[in-house]
Amino acid sequence: MLNFSFENQTRIHFGEGQISTVASEIPAGAKVLVIYGGGSIKNNGVYDQVVNALKDHAWFEFSGIEPNPNYDTLMKAQALIKQHDIDYLLAVGGGSVVDGSKFIAAAALYNGDDPWDIITDQQKVEAALPIGVVLTLPATGSETNIGSVVTRDGHKLPFMSPAVRPQFAVLDPAVTLSLSDRQISNGVVDAFIHIMEQYLTFDVKGKVQDRFAEGLLQTLIEEGPKALLAESKNDLEVRANIMWSATMALNGLIGAGVPQDWSTHMIGHELTGTYGIDHARTLAIVLPAVMKVRRDAKRTKLLQYAQRVWHIKEGSEDQQIDQAIKMTEAFFQTMGMPIRLPDVELTASDIDTLMAKLESHGMVALGEKQEVTLPVSRQILEQAL
Ligand code: NZQ
Ligand code: ZN
Repeated sequence: MLNFSFENQTRIHFGEGQISTVASEIPAGAKVLVIYGGGSIKNNGVYDQVVNALKDHAWFEFSGIEPNPNYDTLMKAQALIKQHDIDYLLAVGGGSVVDGSKFIAAAALYNGDDPWDIITDQQKVEAALPIGVVLTLPATGSETNIGSVVTRDGHKLPFMSPAVRPQFAVLDPAVTLSLSDRQISNGVVDAFIHIMEQYLTFDVKGKVQDRFAEGLLQTLIEEGPKALLAESKNDLEVRANIMWSATMALNGLIGAGVPQDWSTHMIGHELTGTYGIDHARTLAIVLPAVMKVRRDAKRTKLLQYAQRVWHIKEGSEDQQIDQAIKMTEAFFQTMGMPIRLPDVELTASDIDTLMAKLESHGMVALGEKQEVTLPVSRQILEQAL
């Protein structure tokens, strides 16, 4: 196992009716900015629950954060923050609203000239406004982690800082019942691939991390499809297990003390930044290709994945790995995902554009051993055709 330091101080309130805890989580004298997206929270009762919880607080609102939050939109919140002396942000939505709120929180206290430097120059974020979260879409893990991904002019880039880790997060599985099948699928597959990016590397005898990861993968394989089936889609236990899996997938726990990959995500971000394809759908296309192209480097863990997650015991080691990759693709398809570039109407002629983006963003040595150089990324994209 590798050395590590681990902490995650986000307090979680899990379960039906827990939005009411917002009332006691946010300090009484705080001036709160409630931040949300395109309005789904107004149709599913979440907005009303938040308003009720904040009835004794001074609060304002900022809406319109789009999926893959846009820098220009996020910067519009700064005027409101100054005007009303806002000192607490409450993000109510999915990963985009939470990520967007993290950027708003950091930009509000940023001393440099241009807050975009936080992302392009990876300027250290020393301070940010405190953030609370009411999560409505289980997927990204953003509700308890230190990451955020922001898009500007087709460039989709991440930043990380402990200063933007939410202070608390409300996870009420009931609020996920209004999600479309597409968003449920996106969430399940995004969480699945977060686990894979921290698991499918090389063996460092991190048995605790491996078995946590395998348990989470199996939970998503079991519960994900149930959330799409008419007879089980409104089952709150199914939704609860998906929601908790997605948070656990990227809260730092399973990734502590083990190598991490993230090449699937970095290549996927270029697909979203360039063509606007949903985040999870890009990952479902890239991961199978990564498994094939990096099969030798990942061999031990691929075999462990085949045997422990998919219970494949028959055949040679190579046949077991082949079978595991096929079963992964079949799972993504069951979840309604594309698994090849042509499934989203892209062809070989798009690969040069994506390669230029990877290069301009410095994504030239990705993966657990920095072995995913530009030629390897090209191979991965070609494999995905
Ligand atoms: O904007 P509203 O109207 O709320 O609608 C949203 C949006 O259209 C809708 N939605 C959310 N909750 C709903 C709902 N509709 C009905 N009922 C509900 N309960 O769903 C749509 C998609 O929302 P979005 O927040 O974009 O989805 P997701 O949670 O998948 O977030 C994706 C973003 O997170 C980033 C991605 O790159 C992408 O920008 N990620 C953030 C990470 C992190 N911070 O650690 C890690 C991830 O790998 C990922 O990169
Ligand atoms: Zn993701």
